[in-house]
Amino acid sequence: MSSLSKNSTRPWIALNMAMTADGKTSGPQTEPKVSTPLSEGGSMSSFGSRRDQLRLFKIRASMDAVMCGRKTIESAAIDMGPGLPRFCRWRKARGMEEYNRRIVVSASGELNPASRVFELDFSPILIATTRRGKSRCLPLFKERSWIKVMSFGEKEIDLQKLMIWLHHRWGIQRMVLEGGGRLNDSMFRSHLVDEIFLTICPLIYGGNSHSTICDGLGFQNLQSADSFQCIERCFAKGEAFLRFQRVQGDPDHPRHAEALDT
Ligand SMILES: NC(=O)c1ccc[n+]([C@@H]2O[C@H](COP(=O)([O-])OP(=O)(O)OC[C@H]3O[C@@H](n4cnc5c(N)ncnc54)[C@H](OP(=O)(O)O)[C@@H]3O)[C@@H](O)[C@H]2O)c1
Repeated sequence: MSSLSKNSTRPWIALNMAMTADGKTSGPQTEPKVSTPLSEGGSMSSFGSRRDQLRLFKIRASMDAVMCGRKTIESAAIDMGPGLPRFCRWRKARGMEEYNRRIVVSASGELNPASRVFELDFSPILIATTRRGKSRCLPLFKERSWIKVMSFGEKEIDLQKLMIWLHHRWGIQRMVLEGGGRLNDSMFRSHLVDEIFLTICPLIYGGNSHSTICDGLGFQNLQSADSFQCIERCFAKGEAFLRFQRVQGDPDHPRHAEALDT
C-alpha cells in the first residue's frame, strides 16, 4: 500500500485503461453500446482478456474509490465495484471498507437513473457535478440514500476542489480513474494523474471516431505535456501490461513503488 505524506491534500490517483495496439479504447461511436460477456467475444468496447479484467478488479481492490465519466458508465452495464467476493474479502482483511466507493463525473447532470451503477447500493456513490447539474439530477436520485449529489463549480467542475473534498470528507487516499478519454483529459491537464496502468491488446481498430486514453483538448505543446516513465512491464498471451509513473510527481505524493502482482 502506498503511504501519503501527512501534508497531502488530495488522493493519490492511478489511471487504468486498456487500448488496442493502435491506441483505441472503444469501438466507433456508431457502435451500439451494449454489454456483451467476454465469453461471447465481447463488443468492440470490451476487448481485453480475462486476465486484463482480473487486473482491473485487483487494482480496484487496492483503492478506496473508483471514478468514471458519465459516458463510460452509460457505455456498458458496469457497477464500478470490486467484481468478485474474494476481492471484498481481501479488502476486509486489510482493514479497508469491503466495497470501494464510487464517483461519477458529469457537468450537465443529465444522468440516466437506470444505469446499472446507480441501481446497486453496495457502496456510496458521489455524483460530482455543477450547480445547474445538481438541480437537474438531485430529484432523480432523492430516493436513493447511497447516492450523494454535489456541486463543485458553477458551469465547470473544479477538479482540484473535488479531489480535496474526496480526501478530507470521504477520507479517500487512493483512487483509480477508469476513463473515459474526456474525463482523463481534464485530469491529465490538471496534473492529477500520478500513475498509469495500461494494457495494450493485440488488435487494430483503425478509424478516427474511436475514443483514446486522452481525448478532449489535450496539451498544446511538448513542454506542457505530462511526462511518465515505464516502471513495470509484463507480457501474456499477446497482451502487454504496462505501468507508468509520473516523472515530475507532486511532492506530496512519493513514488508509489508497490509491485502489483500482474
Ligand atoms: N478501454 C478502456 O479501458 C475504457 C475505459 C473507460 C471507458 N472506455 C470507453 O470510453 C468511452 C467513453 O469515453 P468518453 O471520453 O466519450 O466519455 P467519458 O470521459 O467517460 O465521459 C464524458 C462525460 O463526463 C463528464 N465529464 C468529463 N470530464 C469532465 C469534467 N472535467 N468536468 C465535468 N464533467 C466532465 C461530461 O459529462 P456531461 O456531458 O454529463 O457533462 C462528459 O460528457 C466509452 O466508449 C467507453 O467504452 C474505455
